[in-house]
This record gives sequence, C-alpha cells and structure tokens, in this order.
Amino acid sequence: MRAAVIDRHGPPQCITLRELPVPTPGPDEVLVRVAFGSVNHVDTFVRSGAWRTPLAFPFVVGRDAVGTVVEAGDAAAAEFRAGDEVWTSSLGYDGRDGALAELVRVPRARLYRCPAGLPASELVALAHPASTAWLALFRHGHLRAGMRVLVVGGGGNVGWSAVHLAVAAGAVVVTTCGTDDAFDLDRAGATPVDRAARLDRSTLGGAVDLVVDTAGRNDLEAYLDVLAPGGRVVLLAGMATRASFPVGALYLNAATVTGFAISQASVEDLALAARHVVDAVERTGLRPRRLSSVPLELVADAHARLERGEVRGKVVVAVAAHHPPAPRTTPTEGARAVPT
Ligand SMILES: NC(=O)c1ccc[n+]([C@@H]2O[C@H](COP(=O)([O-])OP(=O)(O)OC[C@H]3O[C@@H](n4cnc5c(N)ncnc54)[C@H](OP(=O)(O)O)[C@@H]3O)[C@@H](O)[C@H]2O)c1
Repeated sequence: MRAAVIDRHGPPQCITLRELPVPTPGPDEVLVRVAFGSVNHVDTFVRSGAWRTPLAFPFVVGRDAVGTVVEAGDAAAAEFRAGDEVWTSSLGYDGRDGALAELVRVPRARLYRCPAGLPASELVALAHPASTAWLALFRHGHLRAGMRVLVVGGGGNVGWSAVHLAVAAGAVVVTTCGTDDAFDLDRAGATPVDRAARLDRSTLGGAVDLVVDTAGRNDLEAYLDVLAPGGRVVLLAGMATRASFPVGALYLNAATVTGFAISQASVEDLALAARHVVDAVERTGLRPRRLSSVPLELVADAHARLERGEVRGKVVVAVAAHHPPAPRTTPTEGARAVPT
C-alpha cells in the first residue's frame, strides 16, 4: 500500500511516498481503508521533531483519517464491520503510525462513526480543529450557555469551529478576525472585532468569562484585563511566543490561565469531543471553510506551504484517489479547491 513516510525527523522534503506492507490489526484494532486524510500544524511538529512523541521509523505521517472499515479484530468486531464509514483524529503520535496511508490500523476506542450527509473531505477537515475547539471551550474552558467568550482568531480552522460550537451552546461570542472573515463570522452568530483593534472592554462590548486563543497571539495583559471575576484563559497555540504576565490581575480576579494540547487528551475525552463534533455537524450544520485537496504525492509540499504560512483554511489529502502528480511550477500548484 502507498503511504507518506519519514525515515528521520527533518524538513518537509523528508516525506516520501512509499510502498509499505499492509498493517495487520490487533484484536482491539480495526483496519481502515483511508479516503481522506489532512495536514495539521501538529503534523509538521511531529515530522520536524519540534514536538517529540514516541514513534518508529519508517513513520507514516498524519493524524486524521476518514474511510471505510476493511476488517475488525476479534475484540472490535462487535462494534465495527466491513463497510462501516468511520473516522479518527488521533493517529500519528504516542507510538501509533499516522493516517496518510491507503490502509491504517486504528484502536477501536479511537474510531468513530461518520455523521450522515457530510462528504469525507469535509469531515476530515473538521476532525482535528473541531475536536480541539470542543475540548478547549468545554473541557478546559468550562463554557456554559449565557457566558461571554472571546475566540481569538475566529477565521482559522480551530477558531471557526470554536465560534460555531460556542454559539450553538448558547454562549455570547466575540471573535477577533481579519476583515475578510468578519461577514462569515457575523453570519455564524459571533460579533467580529478587527484583529488589529486594541482588545479592551469597550471593543469587546464588556467583560468576558472565557478567552480561547486559537491564533497564538497570547496577549495575556489584554486577556486578563477583559476577564470577568473567576474567568478563564485557554492557551493552545503559539509554541514559541513569550508573554508578559500580569500576576496581580490573575489572583486579585481569581482568574485561571490554562494550557491545553489535544495530544494530551485521554481516549475518553477524544471520544466525547468526537460525539460533539458529529452532533454539531448533524444538528447545527457545522461545516469547514476554505478546503483545498492534494494527492498523497504532494503531502511534503503541503507541509512546506503550511510552515511558510501560505495556507489559509485546511489542506485535505485525497488518499484513495490516484491522482497523477501535478506538474510543479509554483508551490501551490497541485492543490485543488474541494467543492463543498
Ligand atoms: N493545542 C492544541 O491542541 C492545538 C490543536 C490544533 C491546533 N493548534 C494550534 O492552533 C493554531 C491554529 O490552528 P488552525 O489550524 O486553526 O490555524 P489557522 O487556520 O491558520 O488559524 C490561525 C488563525 O489565527 C489568525 N491570526 C493569526 N495571527 C493573529 C493575530 N495576531 N491576531 C488575531 N488573529 C490572528 C489567523 O488569521 P488570518 O486567517 O486572518 O491570517 C487565523 O484565523 C495553530 O497554531 C495550531 O498549531 C493547537
């Protein structure tokens, strides 16, 4: 089977397309034929070694997959059968091989049923960002109906899902964004605030109970200043940023600043997030924005473009479709818009 593989940590060019043996699922695992995978920021961190996690070379890259069950191990057979449409968002770290291969083995507890009526390319684009957003808002941010939340970076993949999930939960949502995202975010039910504006209570229309920073802006001075008493800040992006931390504003206001990485989430929390993502897709119409698709041959190129900050939206990887490699004249050639 074909797979996007690295033999060592390094730059995007380390990723090569390779034939590997078909994996054999263990008793509590399921063999899945992958239709679509995706490219996330975290995949670049795993590939480069910027974030170290146990893995064995040759290592298949990629975290998310949507596909069809081929066979289930004995302990998984009561839950999954050949032909079931399934997805996962937690391959490619902690010793598990990644998702960008024609066939992958997935632990039963990390495999979820696909929601009805959503193309695989769209579901895979939501898998990591929307799971992240749900965990950030609800598991770590303790968001409840009626609270005011500031989503920093509402135009991004995680931010867009966070806005949708928070609005659907009955929160009052304010979000920073660029001018070209303001219309969509307003329609999604949030109050957009220009990302260049100073963040204070007047621009935000008052204090907020929760700040979720999906942009890596990490402006703790501003966030703690706009927090209501007992409020929370959830940080999840901007690994290399350094922030100035107003200690008095933290303890005098009984505030909490917490960090969160989905890679640390338990199997149970990931499954809970997945249930809420499916629910949001089926009942409240969550859809991804700005999809583009590349074939397996162009995963290295997609990593490079993501690292250079040239990607807006989500790059999904058409694993099952055997596209011939596109001729390369510019870095973005070969990426095709996915009709939604
Ligand atoms: N901790 C975790 O578990 C976890 C999980 C998933 C992702 N992440 C991290 O979360 C971040 C977002 O991921 P993503 O896939 O959503 O990326 P993305 O689609 O590129 O979104 C980033 C967003 O941040 C906005 N932005 C950038 N600089 C900003 C600033 N100074 N002020 C306000 N907004 C700003 C961007 O706006 P424009 O579009 O206008 O440029 C964009 O909307 C990445 O750093 C990723 O590594 C963390």
